[in-house]
Amino acid sequence: RILIIDFGSQVTQLIARRVREQGVYCEVVPSQRAAEAFAAFKPNGVILSGGPASVTDLDTPRAPDMVFEADIPVLGICYGQQTMVAQLGGGVESGHEGEFGRADIEVVEDSKLFDGIWEKGHKYPVWMSHGDRVTALPLGFKAIAVSEGAPYAAIVDEARRYYAVQFHPEVAHTPDGARLLRNFVREIVGLKGDWTMAAFRQEAAAKIREQVGSGRVICGLSGGVDSAVAAVLIHEAIGDQLTCVFVDHGLLRKGEAEQVVTLFRDHYNIPLVHVDASEVFLRELSGVSDPEQKRKTIGRLFIDVFDSEAAKVGGADFLAQGTLYPDVIESVSFHGGPSVTIKSHHNVGGLPDRMKMKLVEPLRELFKDEVRALGRELGLPDGFVGRHPFPGPGLAIRIPGEITRDKLDTLREADAIYLEEIRRAGLYDVIWQAFAVLLPVKTVGVMGDARTYDNVLALRAVTSTDGMTADFFHFDMNFLGRAATRIINEVRGINRVVYDVTSKPPGTIEWE
Ligand code: XMP
Repeated sequence: RILIIDFGSQVTQLIARRVREQGVYCEVVPSQRAAEAFAAFKPNGVILSGGPASVTDLDTPRAPDMVFEADIPVLGICYGQQTMVAQLGGGVESGHEGEFGRADIEVVEDSKLFDGIWEKGHKYPVWMSHGDRVTALPLGFKAIAVSEGAPYAAIVDEARRYYAVQFHPEVAHTPDGARLLRNFVREIVGLKGDWTMAAFRQEAAAKIREQVGSGRVICGLSGGVDSAVAAVLIHEAIGDQLTCVFVDHGLLRKGEAEQVVTLFRDHYNIPLVHVDASEVFLRELSGVSDPEQKRKTIGRLFIDVFDSEAAKVGGADFLAQGTLYPDVIESVSFHGGPSVTIKSHHNVGGLPDRMKMKLVEPLRELFKDEVRALGRELGLPDGFVGRHPFPGPGLAIRIPGEITRDKLDTLREADAIYLEEIRRAGLYDVIWQAFAVLLPVKTVGVMGDARTYDNVLALRAVTSTDGMTADFFHFDMNFLGRAATRIINEVRGINRVVYDVTSKPPGTIEWE
């Protein structure tokens, strides 16, 4: 197993993810707690992450000395490289011109780290993000790759099995990075790669039992995949100490609420409180057209309804949430400084203090596709697990302007046809997210021999790996024509369909 010591980089969990992809178990620990974690975890290898600090400043974090006394392989990445060098007697300086983004490195020595990927004398693209750089190597080290901005882009002490790189192998912009990390964990540390989602399931269940003891847990289901996977996993761990509350705000897609209820009650036999709160939500949302106010209203009501249901079942000691890693990271900024709120996500950190429950978040370290794999492992149906992401505020943020029950019904029908056509074309799984947006704009059309004056519907489809950046999906025009014709013919109230060709950035995926 691998211990990843986190110095605060935004992409540390990507290292963990790459290690898990190799079938190797790992844990991430913040540098402040690294010493005790190291002693308890007894890793076979250690990875030191990047981070925003400068090792040239006073009081910046370091790896515990025991890491370098344990005779195990260590890989330092970016800040991890710099602290390794500083701790082992080399030199690091600030004030040089940094490198940010794509850079080319030239391999100057062959190394086990590069086996099967990179050869001496050739150049390869990597992704850099550093201001400081290593300027003198500790005894025993040599450079194995150089770049314009980093004379020590990759270094090694083969005898002690210490490796360090200035670039970020964990990000997708370093095309060979995943294989480089594979070389480290599989070849250099020598781990077999037999760890699986089945093992994660067991370990996660054990951790939940340990955290919760004999306490009671309540879980709010949103209708989405993440909260469902979290609930099923927690139920497996603690059985009927868990109560699930499904707050149905009436803003879900067609057939979705029924699907959740059937899945929990019939398929898993997990006790479920289904609250149909659509009246309350619609009433409170009437007259609200500002996007942030909509989000805040929905967030507040969700908590209110959930809170009163929780009281009805006798309260609980813990609140379970299906928070994923990208949810965590989108709510903090790169260097821990103040970040701008683009949208108020209502399901992240939305727990009011007065609820006084501790959080159980078993998916906090996972990415969306890993949650899906875990869901399949737990026996959730493929059609459910593979569903496109859906925002907490639901269809409310896909109807710019004021929301009414009629508009919701219209959108639900149109959206269902669009998704049906996408499935029929075999495109559902290559698209990250596809949905319809009902615009508060009326245009003139002609149907039969009559004039129509109805709403415009926008179709959206994007590809993405994490929802943080996205490209619009390049449909065949025939497909779009087919979907548009069906929607206009079958859904009353829509007489024109347009397609959104905005990427993120500058757009966002949702319209509000
Ligand atoms: P944007 O629109 O910000 O969306 O580009 C990025 C991803 O996040 C989803 N999204 C949300 N998910 N609660 C959620 O759980 C929210 O309030 C929320 N707002 C947006 C969006 O669907 C996309 O996948």
